[in-house]
Amino acid sequence: MFKPVIRPRRMRVNKGLRNIIREVTLETRQLIYPIFVSELVNEPKEIPGMPGQIHWTSDRIHEPVLQGMRAGIGGFLLFGVPAKKDGVGSIAASDDSIVCKAIKNIKKHAPEAYIITDVCLCSYLTHGHCGILCENGSVDNDLSASVIAKVALAHAKAGADMVAPSDMMDGRVGQIREVLDANGFENVPIMSYSAKYASAFYGPFRAAADSAPIEGETDRKGYQMDPAVKRDAMLELELDLAEGADILMVKPGLPFLDILARARDRFEVPLAVYQVSGEYCMLKAAFEAGYADQEKALMETMISFRRAGADMIITYFAFEVAEYLHSGKYFNA
Ligand code: PBG
Repeated sequence: MFKPVIRPRRMRVNKGLRNIIREVTLETRQLIYPIFVSELVNEPKEIPGMPGQIHWTSDRIHEPVLQGMRAGIGGFLLFGVPAKKDGVGSIAASDDSIVCKAIKNIKKHAPEAYIITDVCLCSYLTHGHCGILCENGSVDNDLSASVIAKVALAHAKAGADMVAPSDMMDGRVGQIREVLDANGFENVPIMSYSAKYASAFYGPFRAAADSAPIEGETDRKGYQMDPAVKRDAMLELELDLAEGADILMVKPGLPFLDILARARDRFEVPLAVYQVSGEYCMLKAAFEAGYADQEKALMETMISFRRAGADMIITYFAFEVAEYLHSGKYFNA
């Protein structure tokens, strides 16, 4: 009988050794929970199409934040759903936007909460694109970036700890940095959605944020990245860093782990990954149907993100993951 000399299994047969040599870990502080504040509801309501996620009102938005802080969740990513939209994004940039109201309320009840705001125009524009449209129906990049910088400023003024532009306009990180600095917000960091792909996995979110593009090209392929191209991912990350981004994000998560791993090899700055709404719903449906064990499969996705190099994970499952981490079973054999 053939006797192999090298036996990798030697390192697996003992539970104690498996525990000692495990490389990848995760802590609750590395989780970021997305929260939605909506002007379209009078009281907190489950989001249709995103089971378990809630449209909060601005006067109760601190509730999930306080609960998340108790669970050890590190930060919160705030999305606004306004009642009114226009063609120029002025509502998004106003000091009493739904997001600004929500930030103020959170900070009143939970001054220590770490609040990151999603900065984009899509929910605030009647046509649902992430930027302002020109006459010919294409997105006016530079004009959009200048309005987006004003949105970031409004959020910072309201008390946001960090801003996260998700629009994919060229130069928006530089514009935001300039405007924040000019107004005394030099210490508000920017987490940039840098490698953001034109993905089908944003579907549930767009329904939740009322932000699906309905004019011109009814997708975001004109500004979000093509999943079939990997050349420009590193360029996008590099540009955002050069323009002043402090944290770089890759999005969606599992379908783009290769991009995350490449980014990890290349950049010595904190990296975020976003397990997006479609990934959440897909997993949720599988768990509910009994096709996969929720705890085991969910934790496997978390480990994959960490293995690929994410320093932080934005996930709608933050509470579930926190609960599993608290059980003490994880990262023990
Ligand atoms: C806004 C934005 C989107 C997401 C985060 N910010 C939607 C999009 O770009 O179409 C997606 C988040 C998710 O799917 O969970 N631009």
